[in-house]
Amino acid sequence: MSETLNVTLQVWRQEGPEARGRFETYEARNIPTDSSFLEMLDVVNEDLIEDGTEPIVFESDCREGICGTCDLMIDGQAHGPQKGQATCQLHMRSFNDGDTIVVEPWRATAFPIIRDLAVNRSAFDEIIMAGGYISVPTGSAPDANLTPVPKEGSDTAFDAAACIGCGACVAACPNSAAQLFTSAKIQHLNLLPQGQAERWERTEKMVETMEMYFGSCTNHAECHEACPKEIPIDFIAYTNRDYIKAKAKNRKLAGQA
Ligand code: SF4
Ligand code: FES
Repeated sequence: MSETLNVTLQVWRQEGPEARGRFETYEARNIPTDSSFLEMLDVVNEDLIEDGTEPIVFESDCREGICGTCDLMIDGQAHGPQKGQATCQLHMRSFNDGDTIVVEPWRATAFPIIRDLAVNRSAFDEIIMAGGYISVPTGSAPDANLTPVPKEGSDTAFDAAACIGCGACVAACPNSAAQLFTSAKIQHLNLLPQGQAERWERTEKMVETMEMYFGSCTNHAECHEACPKEIPIDFIAYTNRDYIKAKAKNRKLAGQA
């Protein structure tokens, strides 16, 4: 039988994007230490519903570190105290009996609060729509060996593709910059042969869309520390290099250089 603990929660409640928010205090009692942080919130919500109170709004989908929706700031740390984990992978054994835990939404102008702990991350979608794809007619599935991909390139592209779009990098950055997310989404395509045709256009458009919504990177590296997938900040350097090249190459392609 697993052990249990009692914790006090201070949770940000906000009825809507324009409403004034506040912290509310809730007691979570007899929570198994093996349960996840989100399961603990489920228990609190069941009690709130039983009492006729509005449950706490928070997002989750996969609950196994894949979808990137469980975006919570826990005791001032994006996704809580465990490194390399999304909130859904955080277990209550990471806390002590009697702890007070502060739970907030991501705080960034580009991620307006929808309600309570749920924020609108559609600014990320805008960046992806600007160029985070390969626009080729795929037809039927090609032979797997048709396009040789160097092992080093495919491994590095895979590291970038691990980004789940959660937004912890933005929430942790003192400038609310989105360089780690954007560079991961650019480089998982730019590093592969299939991504070369649109490499320069993609880089320019995605970086410039990012700059419309988010702050600038000043190399704090808090993004990497907060990232549940530990995306290396090297990708930001690769993207800065590609962006400078893109500005020259795109002008040439337009016949202006
Ligand atoms: S880079 Fe990391 S922290 Fe940022 S969105 Fe991707 S997975 Fe989340
Ligand atoms: S719920 Fe999908 S990553 Fe946490």
